Amino acid sequence: MNAQLHLIDHPLIQHKLSLMRCKDTSTKNFRQLAREISALLAYELTRDMPTQTVRIETPLEAMDARMIDGKKIVLASILRAGNGLLEGMLDILPSARVGHIGLYRNPGTLEAVEYYFKMPQDMAERDVIVLDPMLATGNSAAAAVERLKACRPRSIRFVCLLTCPEGIARFHQQHPEVPIFTPAIDRGLDEHGYIVPGLGDAGDRLFGTQ
Ligand code: URA
Repeated sequence: MNAQLHLIDHPLIQHKLSLMRCKDTSTKNFRQLAREISALLAYELTRDMPTQTVRIETPLEAMDARMIDGKKIVLASILRAGNGLLEGMLDILPSARVGHIGLYRNPGTLEAVEYYFKMPQDMAERDVIVLDPMLATGNSAAAAVERLKACRPRSIRFVCLLTCPEGIARFHQQHPEVPIFTPAIDRGLDEHGYIVPGLGDAGDRLFGTQ
């Protein structure tokens, strides 16, 4: 078993993911489900985050209370489909910073080509959660993490809604220490680089451009 692969097998997430897979699910519902699942995933993703003790005052007395340690989390969205996971994450992590990484897939080679990269200035000591609903070939995810590593954050973790064995292998071949959080691992990729059975083109379904 791959220690850096976290399968989030929660009934609520599985149910919502199955609804997302249905081809007749509307754009509105697809978007809402992505938001709900990402909020649930945020809970799992932050389970081991370090906390520190801070002196506070309740209305009754002073106490040492636990709070998240360190600088605010950075949510790094791989455009454009990663944005579909942003709102749900921000529901749970409202103070998180948000970065964007623009990559497109060269349709011939399926390799990732970068066209945009914007992160907060002070990345050292920050924990980064990379968002992309589909870890398919793994090329975009691996390229995004490579670029993020140059910013030297405290930690990087990757979250998606769906992946497949090829995507996991490709990603961990380049970044074996970066954990992947996913609710499902599907059978594989088709000849166009789509996950099967999958849920189709996540960007198109999120933004109604299919
Ligand atoms: N991107 C998608 O949106 N869907 C896939 O199945 C693979 C990559």
